[in-house]
Amino acid sequence: MKRTPIAIVAHGGAGGINFPQRRKNGLMKAASIGYGMLAQGASSIDAVEKAVMILEDVTIFNAGTGSSLNFMGEAEMDAALMTSELQFGGVGAITHVRNPIRVARLVMEKTDHLLLCGEGAIHFARHMGIKYYNPRTDEKKRLWKRMRKKLQSRYFRKLRELVEHYGTIGVVAIDTNGLITAGTSSGGITLRLPGRVGDTPLIGTGTYADEHGGVSATGHGEEIMRAMVAFRVVSLMARYPAQRAGKIVVDYATKYGCQCGLIGIDKKGRIACANNTKAMSWCSIKDGQMKLFDMKN
Ligand code: GLY
Repeated sequence: MKRTPIAIVAHGGAGGINFPQRRKNGLMKAASIGYGMLAQGASSIDAVEKAVMILEDVTIFNAGTGSSLNFMGEAEMDAALMTSELQFGGVGAITHVRNPIRVARLVMEKTDHLLLCGEGAIHFARHMGIKYYNPRTDEKKRLWKRMRKKLQSRYFRKLRELVEHYGTIGVVAIDTNGLITAGTSSGGITLRLPGRVGDTPLIGTGTYADEHGGVSATGHGEEIMRAMVAFRVVSLMARYPAQRAGKIVVDYATKYGCQCGLIGIDKKGRIACANNTKAMSWCSIKDGQMKLFDMKN
């Protein structure tokens, strides 16, 4: 059977980069372990799920443990996985699980549905044996208190001004059989209203894959939804190499004031990494060569 060259790319969110060394360590670990799995013949679904779980467990990223807290101080999280064979699973506004991406994969593989949200997603997770877990860290509780004071009563207009770090994480990989998987996991935006679901688990916005490639997006969820970022990039991969497709969509998003970043891989294993924010943290491995963000990109 023909073996496709393997590749993996991971991001740790777009926006200002705090704790750059810890970000680098987390991203290098996730990409290296995922790449190692691909090299051993694992599917891109397994490699992406594992790499996303590693990033969800690193508290400085806004996903899993250390997720941003909503208006009520709760960590409602979003996650999704999609493959180039159009398998999709997502969870929205799920609480009290350690790795939302695991539940997203279970939705993909064990149900007839694409997306479960809120209470329903939690019941499903417990039914599948996923244990109770509290992902709220002291650091995020302190940040929540500080920002909550700043908001006072002018909720909606002020919220946008307060958003500085878009810390969603995501991973895209291609395995030896040419299967591409994109996975994204997010703690959302601090002080969002309870029940808010961002772009991450909405098919085509924060996460998308088809025969042309796969993409994980990061940034301001509401704007990413309007610009349909992930689907737009993957569609363009039918005509252009990954990086060109990503750049075209970031330019389009910029025109509409959508602050975002994205990573992707096309069917030839070419990698995209583009953003219009102050910075974006990412790490890729292809042909055994690792590349890593620096503070200028
Ligand atoms: N992009 C993550 C969010 O806005 O929820």
